[in-house]
Amino acid sequence: MKRNQSKTTVLFAAFCLSLMLCTFASASETPPAEAAQEATEEAKPKLTVSLELGEVTYKHYCTPCHGMKGDGTGFNAGSLLVKPANHTDAKFMSERNDAKLFDTINLGGVEVAKSTLMPPWGATLGDEKIKSVVLYLRELCQCKATKSW
Ligand code: HEC
Repeated sequence: MKRNQSKTTVLFAAFCLSLMLCTFASASETPPAEAAQEATEEAKPKLTVSLELGEVTYKHYCTPCHGMKGDGTGFNAGSLLVKPANHTDAKFMSERNDAKLFDTINLGGVEVAKSTLMPPWGATLGDEKIKSVVLYLRELCQCKATKSW
């Protein structure tokens, strides 16, 4: 019985010591509020509109339907009832100005009276990435807009 009691005391003391050490260790770390701020700043790097960002974004999100070359022949294209647009078609693309392309990507096909099979990307990508993708679309079609919308 006595041995058991002293064992319990030793265990209890060890437990207290580890608690103290933990409290001490966490107190010396960055305060949680600051740490949280650092984390969000890291997770949200400041984006700038660029062709490079557009290309990376396009290749990640758009190629499954529009194809690696942007010609509308992605691996999903065959199973869609409406064919994905061919972004290398200069005539087709020049009939859409940058604002219209932005709206199409941001809000989806349905917002520009096109198929709902073209999804809305606003919530996933945000303005900078969409503007960058528009730059990349102009690179793919090697064309400028000839219409006002
Ligand atoms: C799930 C397949 C799918 C994905 C992924 C997709 N699209 Fe589309 N997209 C379509 C389809 C289908 C159409 C044709 C819609 C129509 O003609 O009604 C289309 C059409 C378009 C058009 C032409 C709309 C017009 O004015 O006629 C643009 C521009 C476009 N997509 C851009 C993009 C961009 C940029 C991405 C990536 C951020 C993307 N799409 C991702 C399926 C997709």
